[in-house]
Amino acid sequence: MRNSPSKNEPGSGHSRNFTNWSPFVKSSSGFGISPNRSYALLSLLTLLIVGAFISTRILLDPTRKRPSRQRLDHIRYSQNTPPTPVTTQSPKPEFTLHCSANDTNATCPRNSYPATASFGEDTPTATCPDYFRWIHEDLRPWAKTGITREALERAKKTANFRLAIVGGRVYLEKFQDAFQTRDVFTIWGFLQLLRKYPGKIPDLELMFDCVDWPVVRALDFAGVDAPSPPPLFRYCGNEETLDIVFPDWSFWGWSEVNIKPWESLLKELREGNQRTTWINREPYAYWKGNPSVAETRQDLMKCNVSEEHEWNARVYAQDWIRESKEGYKQSDLASQCHHRYKIYIEGSAWSVSEKYILACDSVTLLVNPHYYDFFTRGLLPAHHYWPVREHDKCRSIKFAVHWGNSHIQKAQDIGKTASEFIQQELKMDYVYDYMYHLLTGYAKLLQFKPEIPQNAMEICSETMACPRSGNERKFMTESLVKHPAETGPCAMPPPYDPASFYAVEKRKQSTTKRILQWEMKYWNKQNQTGS
Ligand SMILES: *[C@@H]1O[C@H](CO)[C@@H](O)[C@H](O)[C@H]1NC(C)=O
Ligand SMILES: *[C@@H]1O[C@H](CO)[C@@H](O)[C@H](O)[C@H]1NC(C)=O
Ligand SMILES: *[C@@H]1O[C@H](CO)[C@@H](O)[C@H](O)[C@H]1NC(C)=O
Ligand SMILES: *[C@@H]1O[C@H](CO)[C@@H](O)[C@H](O)[C@H]1NC(C)=O
Repeated sequence: MRNSPSKNEPGSGHSRNFTNWSPFVKSSSGFGISPNRSYALLSLLTLLIVGAFISTRILLDPTRKRPSRQRLDHIRYSQNTPPTPVTTQSPKPEFTLHCSANDTNATCPRNSYPATASFGEDTPTATCPDYFRWIHEDLRPWAKTGITREALERAKKTANFRLAIVGGRVYLEKFQDAFQTRDVFTIWGFLQLLRKYPGKIPDLELMFDCVDWPVVRALDFAGVDAPSPPPLFRYCGNEETLDIVFPDWSFWGWSEVNIKPWESLLKELREGNQRTTWINREPYAYWKGNPSVAETRQDLMKCNVSEEHEWNARVYAQDWIRESKEGYKQSDLASQCHHRYKIYIEGSAWSVSEKYILACDSVTLLVNPHYYDFFTRGLLPAHHYWPVREHDKCRSIKFAVHWGNSHIQKAQDIGKTASEFIQQELKMDYVYDYMYHLLTGYAKLLQFKPEIPQNAMEICSETMACPRSGNERKFMTESLVKHPAETGPCAMPPPYDPASFYAVEKRKQSTTKRILQWEMKYWNKQNQTGS
């Protein structure tokens, strides 16, 4: 029901030329985002939660007696004994990092994980958010054939690494370096999932490609005699491709641009929203990012306010090289959620900035996107965002802002619906649950027994975090899952039946079309009155 082979040009049209990969030039996802906010939030963090910092120090200081030692001993012990009923009074067992004095040679403790999670299979849980239904769609290409080892090995061609989970332990075979630390924090995410749901993640082997653009073209695997597509995990997809989408590294932190792990960022965004009400925000559309990564962004620059035009847009080019040299000190704390409207525009592929923009309580003006990530397929026009045309953006933005400023209640509702979606349906628990269900579904399709790859190393939170310093260590410490989940993952919603799938798609299309008609009417009138 997706990837109809007739659509558009095949592929993304982007060359996957690694030599083009200057850290501050090519990565679209890098440029969608503004480190201002992150810096702001980091500063805030420093000011506000000194307590957390202190406990971090305790956690990391190997010479200090760990306050949780006793609890750890309890866990080690209980692994070999029948489970005892947990009384509500007992403190939650915590799993801290076991870094030794010599951090350069950390090993994986045998007791890195508790043997099994503490919840039973029959614990009733809430149904997962609707966007989880796309997991069925993403795995559908293998529903009939399953995934053979041969198909998996074909995915190696562009993969950065192979990850194997065997008996609850994780093994990594690295093929090539990824941009910045996106692979590192992605792998970190897998490790934390295993800490959250120990003993619940099935054995599997998967290939992960950390490059921005999807590469598994549906057309190449459409014929009757065509081989099954290689299962390849990455951060985004589009209508022409079959890559399996997975949460990106920024949920665990993006150390190069100071974007901290999602869990605490989300909390700070929520607090930030409480400080400025929508109505008191600047009545314009705001964007800040790097325009040089995509033509469409350069085009957006033309919508800036000028002597000739008032397109209701305030757009800013971010000088990432300068800001990184200056430690992001140029980033201003205040301007990120201080506009009633915020523009989201893709770079060369999806941009990690989308969740930060949607979280603002502002109306997200979504310039027609070409890529999706794991959660964006759950967004609806005029409900979570306002659609903006890709061609003729300035007029589209001007109208959107005009509409919002003359329909204040409805505009606020859209902003609120989006930020609530982000706060509730994209909280870290659901990010892990999405990974859980995707990996569980994926593992069921494997037609071979997963093995420890020959060139693989065992990895765990200790081998990754202990040797690191700076932001990397800080973000890992912060995003470390410290105790297993007490309840099971949310319950997977059933797949869309074709009728409801088309109903949702149709609703999206007709809403977008209706907005376009309003826009045309508005511009007709403007043109006639000669303004
Ligand atoms: C840590 O271990 C490495 C590798 O075994 C060794 O070269 C280094 O001297 C050790 N450092 C300390 C402080 O023990
Ligand atoms: C690292 O530690 C392991 C186990 O303690 C040891 O066998 C190995 O020789 C060490 N590696 C280095 C380089 O010191
Ligand atoms: C847009 O206009 C504002 C206000 O004049 C200005 O500060 C900003 O630098 C402009 N942005 C770009 C990308 O030129
Ligand atoms: C209004 O005028 C502009 C500039 O001449 C033109 O590009 C646009 O298509 C017109 N819009 C409508 C709806 O007539």
